[in-house]
Amino acid sequence: MTTAAILTAAGSGARLGRDEPKALVDLCGRSLVAHAARRLVASGAVDLLVVTAPRERADDVARLLAAEDLPVPVTVVEGGVSRQASVAAGLAVLPQAIDVVLIHDAARALVPPSLVARVADAVRSGHRAVVPGVPVSDTIKQVGQVSGDGAPVLATVSRERLRAVQTPQGFSRELVDRAHVAGLVRAASEATAATDDAALVEAIGVAVWLVDGAEDAFKITTRRDLAAAELALTGHLAVDELEQVDAALATLRSERRSPAAVDREPAENDAGSVDEAVS
Ligand code: CTP
Ligand code: MG
Repeated sequence: MTTAAILTAAGSGARLGRDEPKALVDLCGRSLVAHAARRLVASGAVDLLVVTAPRERADDVARLLAAEDLPVPVTVVEGGVSRQASVAAGLAVLPQAIDVVLIHDAARALVPPSLVARVADAVRSGHRAVVPGVPVSDTIKQVGQVSGDGAPVLATVSRERLRAVQTPQGFSRELVDRAHVAGLVRAASEATAATDDAALVEAIGVAVWLVDGAEDAFKITTRRDLAAAELALTGHLAVDELEQVDAALATLRSERRSPAAVDREPAENDAGSVDEAVS
């Protein structure tokens, strides 16, 4: 099976409140999108990477990913007006040979490579739509009409079977293409768009499978999250970064450069070479 990852990085990051798009924000010397790309590829599960970038910054994103010397072809496309539209733009450039698609948010910059592999394995073993999720630790209440700064509590929802869902989400290519086509009308604004790709699959009545997520795959939304990411990367993830990410990428690069692979080596950021690279 041949697997593409679509890395969504075209958002503005309004809630983070920086001058530049969130995916380009620095975290310990690397942009968030570069961290996410390295961790996706270090899983060994990805044959091709497609990145959605903000319209004005597509060249910058391509440049900083080229600097990572990733051992897979990288294509950068301009994102759309919603996350859903950005994913659709990524799906539109996938070569024919791709039969598994992982969709990941650059905002989940510290995703463990082992989680990426777990999702990909679940798809390859026959689940056509897979999401990672973690148990919810807060008590969840359903509320009525919000007025002023309050709202009446209607019910307490049992959290035993609730999961907070993360990315990467993995799909058979045929299914995710079909789900995005069916949900296309929703993509025109973030207000109507699906907030994850599995929701589009659920909407066409196909079952979605959940696997264990990972705490470190948390989404960086606010300044507080960015501070938490910095703490993680300089703390408990510092060793993983060297032993699991750097080391895995070095191994994959040397495999790519071995004599058997040289003839097939594609040019980076060259969409035209992608079909050839993965066929
Ligand atoms: N994203 C995208 N295209 C969009 C909107 C979002 O590719 N039109 C990507 C973001 O770059 C991010 C992921 O989708 O990696 C999840 O979105 P979110 O965390 O909401 O990021 P932003 O939309 O950038 O942040 P905000 O909502 O605070 O503006
Ligand atoms: Mg957003």
